[in-house]
Amino acid sequence: MRVTEPGALVAPPEHRAPAGWRPDSWRGLPITQQPPWDPAALERVTEEIALLPPLVLPAEIRELHRSLAAVSAGEAFLLQAGDCAERFSSCTEQGVRGKLKVILQLAILLTYGAGLPVVKVGRIAGQFGKPRSQPTEVVDGVELPVFRGDIVNSPEPRAEARRPDVNRLLRAYHHSAATLDALRALTLGGSADLDQAHAWNQEFVRRTGPGQDYEKVADEITRALRFMAACGVDMNELRALHQVHLFTSHEALLPHYEQALTRYDEKSRAWFDTSAHMVWIGDRTRQLDGAHVELLSGITNPIGLKVGPSTTPEQLRQLCDRLDPNHVPGRLVLITRLGATNVTDLLPPLLRAVNETGHSVVWACDPMHGNTFVSRSGYKTRRFSDILTEIAMFFGVHRAEGTYPGGIHLELTGDDVTECLGGVEDVLDNQLGTRYETACDPRLNAGQSIQLAFHVAQFLRSSAWPAH
Ligand code: PEP
Ligand code: CO
Repeated sequence: MRVTEPGALVAPPEHRAPAGWRPDSWRGLPITQQPPWDPAALERVTEEIALLPPLVLPAEIRELHRSLAAVSAGEAFLLQAGDCAERFSSCTEQGVRGKLKVILQLAILLTYGAGLPVVKVGRIAGQFGKPRSQPTEVVDGVELPVFRGDIVNSPEPRAEARRPDVNRLLRAYHHSAATLDALRALTLGGSADLDQAHAWNQEFVRRTGPGQDYEKVADEITRALRFMAACGVDMNELRALHQVHLFTSHEALLPHYEQALTRYDEKSRAWFDTSAHMVWIGDRTRQLDGAHVELLSGITNPIGLKVGPSTTPEQLRQLCDRLDPNHVPGRLVLITRLGATNVTDLLPPLLRAVNETGHSVVWACDPMHGNTFVSRSGYKTRRFSDILTEIAMFFGVHRAEGTYPGGIHLELTGDDVTECLGGVEDVLDNQLGTRYETACDPRLNAGQSIQLAFHVAQFLRSSAWPAH
């Protein structure tokens, strides 16, 4: 019995590279967000990476694709979550275990809410590169190049630390490999137990105290698990309950790195970017004729596309045609990040434009990137209430338009950080400095993440989707 891999029996058609595409056909096209690398050193390091083994395998990528095809048909729900920017230093056993733990806690709540399988994709094992709004920043009166993620430079405010270092591409490869190795051991070894993830959530409910609705949801899940046991389902024997699949993903920001890991699969005669199961195109690099779109148009992996408030329906239509010319269900995950105040105005025309094209996409809501601001205390932050509102609006608009709200995309951590305002433990502006640890954008802490998932579980339960 396969519980975690929806649609596993139905093999959907696959995307194939368009005529004339090559792993290096992006070179020479307009490109943004690239660090000023030393070109000779860059070629030397990427040639070295190109000889190293793939990080993920085509068979695993196909499995994710099948699962996303099920999401696009309204038969599963996508949870994509993890760090804004992973750090090399958090690639530790405890670090990986903590991230996995919170993702699984959310997944069980969403599975219960949706009554459907949840496809779990981490922003993990490769999310090391960051697009930035400005190439430089002023720190203590000194202008410095910005931090572009551990794959490029180091965040310390010194000119030397901020210099791009090609050897970091190689380090990113090795840190991704080590993270994946730990994830594989943790997810296949049984420590990702359903019972255990539920026990963690019950612990959260106990800590938040009475008066919250969470208790009801947690109790219902307990009853469902007891019911299965009473029906004679031996939970200890059921492998599917003890093993989970966590797929990996990151923004494909640095085409030199992605090209080095793009490999031809003789068996299926297709190109796969073996740096992660899924990669996405950021809101700043989605130019139709740009390098990023060209590179990702030829790989067979499922592709994410961030859709910010400046995206026009016509642009989105063209991007869908370009990235999914053969209309392959689940090939594209459109991740809208419009901002809580914009969703009701901007989302409907985007949904209609894509519907008219007939592409069978996954619609996911990133409620983080459209709701970022600098608070009075000077920290870049997000309000828990705005995040929740954007998701609620996303569900509402999909219901009104008759389309399926297929997933959520979150920046979170399993740690007790104080980066986003509000939530059940009500982080205040003057408390942001207590544990503000992100290398880039503010993340939901463990409590805020679980609280959010309880709410989303309720949205899912109270919605009847046409596809069901
Ligand atoms: C991100 O996901 O971290 C990010 C930078 O998103 P966007 O491209 O949507 O701004
Ligand atoms: Co971010």
